[in-house]
Parts: sequence; C-alpha cells; structure tokens
Amino acid sequence: MSNSFKSTLHFQPHDKTIVARNGTTILAAARHAKVMLQSKCGGRGACTACKVQIRTEAQPAPLSRMEKHMLSEQMLKDGYRLGCQCVVNGDAEVIVPEDPLRRTIRLQLEAARREAEEKKEK
Ligand code: FES
Repeated sequence: MSNSFKSTLHFQPHDKTIVARNGTTILAAARHAKVMLQSKCGGRGACTACKVQIRTEAQPAPLSRMEKHMLSEQMLKDGYRLGCQCVVNGDAEVIVPEDPLRRTIRLQLEAARREAEEKKEK
C-alpha cells in the first residue's frame, strides 16, 4: 500500500504489519506496531541496538552519517540499517534480529503450545 505519503511495513519474526507515514523512523514505526526494538542511546545512532535488516523493492532511504560510521560494509551490503536513523521510504519487510536467548525461549514456548493443542485434539 505504498503511496507518496504512507508505506506498509511488515515486521518479522513478529509477523506484524502496519501502515506508517513516510519519513517516520523505523524505530518509531516499530514502537507504534508494539514491536520490541532495543534503543540504548535514545535514538542518536550511537549504540546499534536498534539495527534491523530491511528488504524492500523501493529505493531505500539514504544512509545517515551515523549508519555509515556504525555499520560494517558487509552489514550495509546485507541490508542492515539503524532503526533510529533509517526512515520509512516505501513498503518493506523489516527483520528484527532476535537475541539468541529470546529465540530459544520463543521456540520452546511455541513447541509447548503446539504440544498442548495436540493433546486437546486427542
Ligand atoms: S537507538 Fe542507538 S543506534 Fe539506534
């Protein structure tokens, strides 16, 4: 649903979709979508806690000076951006890297939920 004013963002692995105004930071859009995105420096581009991977068909928003400084060449090549610096500029999938511990807990909870549902069905 991209037009010149708004774009659709799909956050993964949360599977949440929102429509955000172009020019809004990814960090602000994530908060609006109630997606947990770390921010240790208050959005100044200094901590990289808010890094996300962006997949978009649209022309990505230009890199900020802090993104060029804080992210490696490889990360930039792989589509990583700082959520507090990168602005919405078209429909995109936003992949929030999961903390390994959180991922393990999420997978265990999902497995337990599936198991409980299977028991209910029997
Ligand atoms: S919040 Fe610290 S770099 Fe984005």
